[in-house]
This record gives sequence, structure tokens and C-alpha cells, in this order.
Amino acid sequence: MSVILGIDIGGSGIKGAPVDTDTGQLLSERYRIPTPEGARPADVQGVVRQLVDHFALPGAVGVTFPGIVQHGHILSAANVDKAWIGLDADAAFTGATGRDIHLINDADAAGLAEAKFGAGAGVKGTVLVLTFGTGIGSALILDGVLVPNTELGHLWLRDKHAETWASDRARERDDLNWKQWAKRVSSYLQHLELLFSPDLFIIGGGVSKRPERWLPALTVSRSRVVPAQLQNEAGIIGAAMMAAQAVPGVAEPAVPASSRPAKPAAAVTAPMKSAAVKKAASKPATPRK
Ligand code: BGC
Repeated sequence: MSVILGIDIGGSGIKGAPVDTDTGQLLSERYRIPTPEGARPADVQGVVRQLVDHFALPGAVGVTFPGIVQHGHILSAANVDKAWIGLDADAAFTGATGRDIHLINDADAAGLAEAKFGAGAGVKGTVLVLTFGTGIGSALILDGVLVPNTELGHLWLRDKHAETWASDRARERDDLNWKQWAKRVSSYLQHLELLFSPDLFIIGGGVSKRPERWLPALTVSRSRVVPAQLQNEAGIIGAAMMAAQAVPGVAEPAVPASSRPAKPAAAVTAPMKSAAVKKAASKPATPRK
């Protein structure tokens, strides 16, 4: 068993927990500290240090960030303080905590976790995990392997910036009911479907807690759409998985073989247009070898 501390930097809270990266299980209660006002780098690093000290777990630590993270550097900050842009965050967090810290985009972390231990476990092919919150995060996963930093929330749909128009924040801002919001999300998913032909969309973020409110109103043409299963643990789990992979000998690479009890991934699914496609999509997923 390898146990790694995973930390998820969110808009309102920074949460951490030790994760068994072989099973995806949290090994103790999450510990949450409110995100400091303005979420400036030094303040956030201070909170991450507090979490690291709180758990006092030896070894590497995985941390999520809501922007592009390339080779440890932060390259965008759509919804957080712009002072993050250009920072060598792996080095800065490692310096602030004295621990081997590895950053990963928040949606990529959620995607890794969902693909291995959640709604995408055992699914072959192209899986697109989308998180709807303040922004829209995306993770593109092919046969369990992540293509990082896809940033599909920043696509333009004619004259509309996807994240500004269809995020959960947009739903609240524009006072949309769930059906009206689902209509916007459907246009967005249909566009993604045209570009990527995913076998499966996994819809995460806070909205995944009550999928019955919006999932039946989603329409896509060919793909299966299911809600995320790991909810607010996904970022923590994915961050720990990534840190485990970054440290040779700590853990195996991600393959979607789960020891988490399987939940019915398609308990609620979005209506699809073609019956033939529906039949194909409802075939049971073949477990990976
Ligand atoms: C950022 C992404 C992030 C998403 C969700 C977007 O604004 O550009 O990097 O994954 O928000 O937090």
C-alpha cells in the first residue's frame, strides 16, 4: 500500500487527506482550511504548509491548482490571483513546506481519479471529464492515460466563451433553472462531441451531487454521459495519484482497475438521439487487462 497526501486548492477551501493510491480510498477525514482572501501565492503556500504539518505524513505530496500546470509551472490563472502566472510552483511549494510537492491541474486530478476509481473505472477509449463550478475544467483520458491541460472550458461556441456561459457560476449569475442550464451544457457537450467523439462524458463538480436535476435534460448525439462519483474527494485522490506516479517506485501508473465498490455509473443517463448508438453505448465496459 502506498499512502500519499493529496491536497485540493479550491475557491473557498483548501482540503487535504492521506490517500491509499492503490485503492483510491481516503485513509482519514479530510482536513479543510478556508482559502485565504485573494488566494495569493504566499498565503496559499502557508495553508498548504499547515495541511502538510497537520498530517505529518512522510513522502511526496500532490496538490491541485485551478489553472494550467506544465512541468510544475503555473501558466494560467483564470479565476485566481494573476501573480501565480509564471511561478515555478513545484519549487515554491517544496521550498515553503520542505516536502517534495507536485502540482497538477484540478480537473486533471479529478479526471485521473474518476477514470481509475470512479465513473470511468474499466472504461476503454476516450473519456472526457468536465468539472462545472466557478469555471469549467476538463480532463481528456485515453485508455486510462491523461492528456494534461486540455482547458476545454475556454473553447468558444460561436460568440460565447464556454466557461463564462455554461459554468455553474453562470447558472447562478443568470438565474437559470436546471433545464435552462442543461440546454447550454448540451450545446457545449455537442460541440465537444464533434471535436473528440468521446466514448464517455463524466460530469463533475458540485453539480454531480444531484444529477437528477439536470442529467435527464441533457442531449448529446453519440456519447454516454454520467455524473462523477467521487465528488469532492476526486481532486485529493487524483493529486495523490499523480504524486505517486511522479516518485519512481512509489506506485504503479494509473490503470482503471478499481478495488472501490462499483456504484451504478449510469444510474441516470442523458437521452441520446440514435437507438443504434444507444445500444452500442450500453454494452458493459470490458475490464482492462
Ligand atoms: C481553468 C482551468 C481549471 C478550471 C476549473 C478554468 O478557468 O482555466 O485550469 O481546471 O477553471 O477550476
